[in-house]
Amino acid sequence: MHPAEKLEALRRQAEEGGGPVRISEQHKKGKLTARERIALLLDEGSFVELGNMVRHRSTDFGLDKEYYLGDGVITGTGTIAGRKVCVYAQDFTVFGGSLSETHAEKICRLMDLAMKNGLPLIGLNDSGGARIQEGVVSLGGYADIFYRNTRASGVIPQLSAIMGPCAGGAVYSPAITDFVFMVENTSYMFVTGPNVVKAVTHEDVTAEELGGAQAHARRSGVTHFVASNEVECIRQIRQLLSYVPQNCEELPPAVAYTPANELRPALDTIIPDHPNKPYDMKEVIRQLADADSFMEVHESFAENLIVGFARIAGRSVGIVANQPMVLAGVLDIKASVKGARFVRFCDCFNIPLLVLEDVPGFMPGTDQEWNGIISNGAKLLYAFCEATVPKITVITRKAYGGAYCVMNSKHIGADLNLAWPSAEIAVMGPKGAAEIIFRKQIQQAENPEAKLEEKVREYSEKFANPYAAAARGFVDEVIHPRETRERLIRAYELLINKVDHMPEKKHGNIPL
Ligand code: HXC
Repeated sequence: MHPAEKLEALRRQAEEGGGPVRISEQHKKGKLTARERIALLLDEGSFVELGNMVRHRSTDFGLDKEYYLGDGVITGTGTIAGRKVCVYAQDFTVFGGSLSETHAEKICRLMDLAMKNGLPLIGLNDSGGARIQEGVVSLGGYADIFYRNTRASGVIPQLSAIMGPCAGGAVYSPAITDFVFMVENTSYMFVTGPNVVKAVTHEDVTAEELGGAQAHARRSGVTHFVASNEVECIRQIRQLLSYVPQNCEELPPAVAYTPANELRPALDTIIPDHPNKPYDMKEVIRQLADADSFMEVHESFAENLIVGFARIAGRSVGIVANQPMVLAGVLDIKASVKGARFVRFCDCFNIPLLVLEDVPGFMPGTDQEWNGIISNGAKLLYAFCEATVPKITVITRKAYGGAYCVMNSKHIGADLNLAWPSAEIAVMGPKGAAEIIFRKQIQQAENPEAKLEEKVREYSEKFANPYAAAARGFVDEVIHPRETRERLIRAYELLINKVDHMPEKKHGNIPL
């Protein structure tokens, strides 16, 4: 055969993966092939494949007679919206996308390339885990990947889409990366599947219940995004990258912004007339962010705290906001962990933070205490203290107790703290406070109810407002809600060259 013909034949063989029958089975399951996924993810014609001739080196269990060029994973580079990325996609049609020694080597080479060149790494995972025929060399391959994931953490953004079953070792690499995306009904993540669960714990559970997209979106928080199909999942990945820089040395990309009237009068009436009435903090976000720019992260997990990316005047910000509509916006264990991880991601990648605060405090009770609200709440506190990116807080209503300190207060390094006239900054709510400090006077009063009311009013006048904090400089400015977006635009502009460093150290010891 002519050498050029041989090359063409080998290329065709590599492109066939596990062959037409297995490709058709993949399609029947509602899944795309690895190559189709890459084509959707990257700008048209931008993909350059690496390692398509790689073959496994195994000879046990008949593997010497069965091999596929590329060995079950497609690796290479390309662009997304014109920006370079590294991508790998596991090919389920080849040994179920299972990870062999050479499959792992290909991923590791790609990760080294991404690290040396400061490029985001995207993994499209669809794998039955360690290649069973290979034994320990496959386990070693996983460990090589975990090691690189960890060393790359905070240097380049790492995104993991789960697009099929991911069992055993296949879940731990995504877990170390920055964001996990899952597809409804076709993707699963578990350390061990339903059969092993049945044998060990006698629980009857389906794959979907145990490790489907909703289980990880709502219960465990392992996945940050859920898509109804693969096309949507890939669109989400492309969108997420639009908010983040290529690596920790760069600033996030900005989009063009034309100055306009930045007053938002709708915000002046958003706070209800009673402190216990809820309102939707997402509406506040919509008013403050550029139109349609908000991308929520962890949407269905710990909904009492909203986190996500948006743009203000074309520049990326990471938003952390209490949601009064869910559990009155209280901080519990899940919300604290969710917030802490998001704040740390933004800090790694130079994304300024915006905190919208309406929080009655930390969640009390045995469930929370016994499960560690102290150490978990401390994660959020630690994350805000440690973050050196531009940090702005807007107190819309309640800023009570420890939560006042935690939610990016002046004391822990916020650059600008704004409050609306409706802000209440105090150790606790006026009623609770009055009941404690005036208990005897209330008990001894002729009309205890009237006395309580009088004391609540007294306490409210003193503390349930932003002016005591503003008098100390803990709040830089009390503003009309309508002025907020305009103030934020100016503030982020001012802070664009902010320089701040943590003290030199090996690394901190966040209370994990
Ligand atoms: C080798 C595998 C494989 C594996 C699947 N295949 N998993 N080959 N090693 N781990 C092959 C099958 O033999 C089959 O080959 C093809 O892939 C498709 O698999 P099916 O079972 O037909 O597909 P499906 O019914 O969709 O089930 C998919 C699955 C199941 C749920 C992933 O295959 C499965 O349970 N696999 C084993 C999962 C597992 O226990 N892995 C080890 C985890 S331990 P043919 O030739 O028929 O197409 C681990 C340790 C790492 O990963 C720890 C590090 C911390």
